[in-house]
Amino acid sequence: MVHQALEAAAVVKAFPGMLALDHVSLSLARGEVHALAGENGAGKSTLVKVLTGVHRPDGGRLRRLGEPLRLDGTLDARRAGIGAVYQDDNAIPSMSIARNLFLGDEPRGRFGLIDTALMHERAAAILRAYGVPADVRRPLGSLGAGAQKLVALARVVTGGAQVIVMDEPTAVMEPPEVRTLFRVVCELREQGRSVLYVSHRLEELYEICDQVTLLREGRVVHTGPLTALGRRGLVSLMLGRPPARLPAAQQAGAHERPGDPPYLRATGLTRRHALADVSIELRQGEVLGLGGLLGAGRTETAKAIAGALTLDAGQVTVAGAPLRNRSITGAIRAGVSLLPENRKTEGIIPSLSIRDNISLAALPRLSRFGVVSGARIDRMVDTFMRRLQIKATSPHQKVAELSSGNQQKVLLARWLAMRPKVLLLDEPTRGIDVGAKAELQDLLDELAVDGLAILLISSDLEELVNGCDRVVVLRDGAVAAELTGLDVTEEGIIAAMASAVPRRR
Ligand SMILES: Nc1ncnc2c1ncn2[C@@H]1O[C@H](COP(=O)(O)OP(=O)(O)O)[C@@H](O)[C@H]1O
Ligand SMILES: [Mg+2]
Repeated sequence: MVHQALEAAAVVKAFPGMLALDHVSLSLARGEVHALAGENGAGKSTLVKVLTGVHRPDGGRLRRLGEPLRLDGTLDARRAGIGAVYQDDNAIPSMSIARNLFLGDEPRGRFGLIDTALMHERAAAILRAYGVPADVRRPLGSLGAGAQKLVALARVVTGGAQVIVMDEPTAVMEPPEVRTLFRVVCELREQGRSVLYVSHRLEELYEICDQVTLLREGRVVHTGPLTALGRRGLVSLMLGRPPARLPAAQQAGAHERPGDPPYLRATGLTRRHALADVSIELRQGEVLGLGGLLGAGRTETAKAIAGALTLDAGQVTVAGAPLRNRSITGAIRAGVSLLPENRKTEGIIPSLSIRDNISLAALPRLSRFGVVSGARIDRMVDTFMRRLQIKATSPHQKVAELSSGNQQKVLLARWLAMRPKVLLLDEPTRGIDVGAKAELQDLLDELAVDGLAILLISSDLEELVNGCDRVVVLRDGAVAAELTGLDVTEEGIIAAMASAVPRRR
């Protein structure tokens, strides 16, 4: 019988309050490049760490070449011929590139001393082969992030590991570095070594992987040959939606006014590793959906428009006027408000009252000669609490005591109090209960009818289809498709998420 290079059977790993791996099984053959895919938080890195001795599993077994494998640390994994390039780096930036390459395995001469000359010579040869032009005596930290990954890779490859696990190595790489990595992966396959390759970039998986194991919320939802599972199948599974159950096309384009010129125009938004030439137009009275998998660049796009992210290139114009010295205050002054994704850390102040949270940002507008009218604030807060149906005992209740749906409404009220012209909403309904969600969705509809231009980021396909006039789908930091009218369907969005877009190479 043919033994697998590495097997995991029913591996369980729990962190306080959460099950990161729920009976995960995976089988890696010799000479196989196996993709480990899934959205952020699916458990990929946790599995990588269990397979390489960083984490001790709470249950399940590992086998290497048919033999039971017990890993009490990374050293055990190394002895078993398992090497890893981790997502968060494990190298020592202040030490030389050469030392990092050989760490713990330096060439030694007589008396057991490190043979520095030999070490440098070997290191230089290895780096040349990896296309990293650098003086190997320089600190590792002097290299770019992508080159540092290649050094980490070179370290495990030259160290002789037979099973090599790579966790999102390309996230910080430049195109030539990615090509080097792919070349190395192909060589490893030819040598009969095995690679477990973690990435959420579909393009890469289809380029170099044979098999795929798909994680979702800590569970394996699929495993098998990659080509047998088309891109759409892969994306559907990542999102937890079997393609067969997708509903048919739905009516859309309710409050679109195609005649109007775009109120907000973002052109060529570009940021290294994040956004590649993203252009978006937004009309008044329109809800534009922004779809895509996690990590596709949706949040970055919203932040870039709101002046909260520096760009390498790109421009944003509002009502025909370019936003100059791009900053959050500049954007707010131009009427652009962003309701951020993480309301806990980027928005709400839980220890303050509803009243204070809502009025915070609008104070300058409500004050006259620096004096704020308490009565005006009360009226405004009252209006918003009624309009948004914020459920609370009084305007003075602490926001921390509200349900997450009502917290989200308070945050929305704060932005609306500034009378924005453009509202960018990043996952506004995530994690709130069904009732509050429906109320928020209705509210967005009303706001659009009132003439606001709304950009809605959502991972909820149904919400995009039902709530948006148009949907722009991002993939790998670029626009993959723009769907309008009857083309705004869940199937259309999934197809776009899975589509092949020329990669930035
Ligand atoms: N050391 C840890 N302590 C607590 N929770 C963790 C730890 N590492 C990961 N998690 C949680 O486990 C889940 C899976 O995380 P991870 O394996 O990093 O996912 P992925 O790599 O697929 O994005 C996430 O919800 C994450 O917050
Ligand atoms: Mg990860």
